[in-house]
Amino acid sequence: MKVAITGGAGFIGSNLTYYLSEERPDWKITILDALTYAGNLETIEPLLGKINFIKLDIADREAVTNIFATEKFDLVFHLAAESHVDRSILSGEPFVRTNVLGTQNLLDASRAHGVGKFVHVSTDEVYGALGPTGRFVESTPLDPTSPYAASKAASDLMALAVSKTFGFDVVVTRCTNNYGPYHFPEKFIPLFITNALEDKQLPLYGDGNQIRSWLHVKDHARALLMVAERGRKGEVYNIGGMEEAELPNRLVAEMICERLNKPKSLIKYVEDRLAHDRRYAIDYTKINRELGWKPEVHFQKGLPETVEWYVNNKAWWTRVKSGAYLEFYEKNYRNRGL
Ligand code: NAD
Ligand code: TYD
Repeated sequence: MKVAITGGAGFIGSNLTYYLSEERPDWKITILDALTYAGNLETIEPLLGKINFIKLDIADREAVTNIFATEKFDLVFHLAAESHVDRSILSGEPFVRTNVLGTQNLLDASRAHGVGKFVHVSTDEVYGALGPTGRFVESTPLDPTSPYAASKAASDLMALAVSKTFGFDVVVTRCTNNYGPYHFPEKFIPLFITNALEDKQLPLYGDGNQIRSWLHVKDHARALLMVAERGRKGEVYNIGGMEEAELPNRLVAEMICERLNKPKSLIKYVEDRLAHDRRYAIDYTKINRELGWKPEVHFQKGLPETVEWYVNNKAWWTRVKSGAYLEFYEKNYRNRGL
């Protein structure tokens, strides 16, 4: 079985690659990744004897076609994306290029060169924001509020349309917020852990009462394998966290401070994100009923373990938090009173 993982040098893609190389040791895995600011070869270095790595920009149509014609993959996990909401507010163009055009290129090349199944990895953010009650189901109308979420919604629809039009075996997954090792420190949890470790302020947007549903990245990887092996063609599967992991940002920030023995006064309330989604929560009944998946890692255990991982892997995140990262940090937080 020849398997391509796009975005395999990023957070979820690398965790998925580690998981699959344990669970399916006979699979021949190739990571396809452009190594943007979010991709890091160091993350997957221990696997490099076992798996292949090809540097590829998925928005480069000719390069995508050539690689798919040569490699003849059986299965594609598509995770490569521009993934940060705040960056998409600063500029939407890279999001359309990679998330929309890149996905189209991969779908076309996959269909043309014998791919048997295409797992399109998406996000619950395509559904927009929830009020205080209710959960996203797969039929909830798409109502994205950020350029990131809009570009993911567009790519979901292209993927589903290719399945409907040509009968191509595409499955779309929509997962809630992940956390765990190798999470890029521009995102909330790793940013707050690493800033706290450096005794820097923790910039909490707005009133800090926005609710996110947290899922350990390993639970996500397990769901993606199930979907690849048993998910039904043309279907969407929501993937979500436990009810106990639906928490306001303020509380998560405090848990991080407590775990690291840092004062909560590091938390600084700053100007809110534009169109900040108030609440996400997922109904994962469908994947539970059809494939038997449910989240297994409790946040009370997974968060401290993740904090420990950042404590023990300082070299990884200090290298990442340099150069272009600092430019983005300055742009995003300068006018927020940080
Ligand atoms: P990430 O930003 O950590 O990694 C993205 C990877 O894609 C990087 O390795 C980067 O180099 C690569 N990439 C970016 N542009 C590329 C291009 N043009 N060509 C090839 N490679 C390119 O993202 P992540 O958090 O690991 O997210 C992976 C996927 O999962 C995304 O599609 C995202 O929308 C989705 N998702 C993420 C979350 C989350 O909580 N992080 C939740 C649900 C869904
Ligand atoms: P993020 O990790 O960017 O994920 P998403 O926006 O995709 O859910 O943000 C998670 C939550 O944390 C979100 O409600 C925004 C908030 N947040 C802050 O309060 N401060 C920050 O500096 C960041 C990056 C996020």
